[in-house]
Amino acid sequence: MIHIKDLYKSFGNNHVLNGFNLRLYEGENLVVMGKSGSGKSVMIKCLVGLIQPDKGFISVMGKEIKTLDRETLDVLRSDIGFLFQGSALYDSMTVRENLEFPLRRHKRKMGGNTDPEPLVVEALQNVGLADAIDLMPEELSGGMKRRVALARTLILKPKIILYDEPTSGLDPITAKEIIELMRSIQKKYGTSSLIITHDVDCARVISERMVLLVDGINYVEGTFEELNRSTDPKVEAFFKK
Ligand SMILES: Nc1ncnc2c1ncn2[C@@H]1O[C@H](COP(=O)(O)OP(=O)(O)OP(=O)(O)O)[C@@H](O)[C@H]1O
Ligand SMILES: [Mg+2]
Repeated sequence: MIHIKDLYKSFGNNHVLNGFNLRLYEGENLVVMGKSGSGKSVMIKCLVGLIQPDKGFISVMGKEIKTLDRETLDVLRSDIGFLFQGSALYDSMTVRENLEFPLRRHKRKMGGNTDPEPLVVEALQNVGLADAIDLMPEELSGGMKRRVALARTLILKPKIILYDEPTSGLDPITAKEIIELMRSIQKKYGTSSLIITHDVDCARVISERMVLLVDGINYVEGTFEELNRSTDPKVEAFFKK
């Protein structure tokens, strides 16, 4: 679903990615862990074409990102759900309007419906928030915002979901609920997920495979158990409680 090969990205003298590699296979939950500032968000933004890499190959569902014109990239992006770090809801729009927004941009995702209402309701039901449809973001708790953001991602029925720190800033119980939601979504829709997190509990529960991003490269890969057993200090640092 995703292939990243030899990705480089610097900002001035700040060499963030130095030959990073990654593959995401169909239907899997892949977790990428890395310290704060290690380049996880930069990598994910390169993936969706929000940041231009300096060098490297990126293909998503068989299409090489840098060869695509705006229109093709836009269509491809509608198959990729991106849950931004934080929730990034539009504060001046109701929950309903927030969810209608992506549908307006990608009309072909309406599945022949002329009325977005049923799709909005379905997406909110998926995250257990059907009652919040007419609330404003400021009326929502942090966990609810995260759920609405997830619903807004789901409404386009993406084939791939990119989660950037889906549980950060949430209490452990709410974080667990979000993780459960992510799992149920994957089961229901068979989506492939790339999950960026430094939450070890999240990684343990959700990952089928993990990649550690250290010094700008995919430093190690393996299952949670494999990495958890590692005696490499750079790997151990992530798992120590
Ligand atoms: N648009 C930009 N311009 C300049 N520097 C940037 C830009 N975006 C990111 N950086 C730098 O790239 C590095 C990696 O940032 P990034 O946001 O990818 O970190 P991260 O791994 O996602 O961290 P966190 O876990 O805190 O979210 C940081 O040093 C950051 O300052
Ligand atoms: Mg980040």
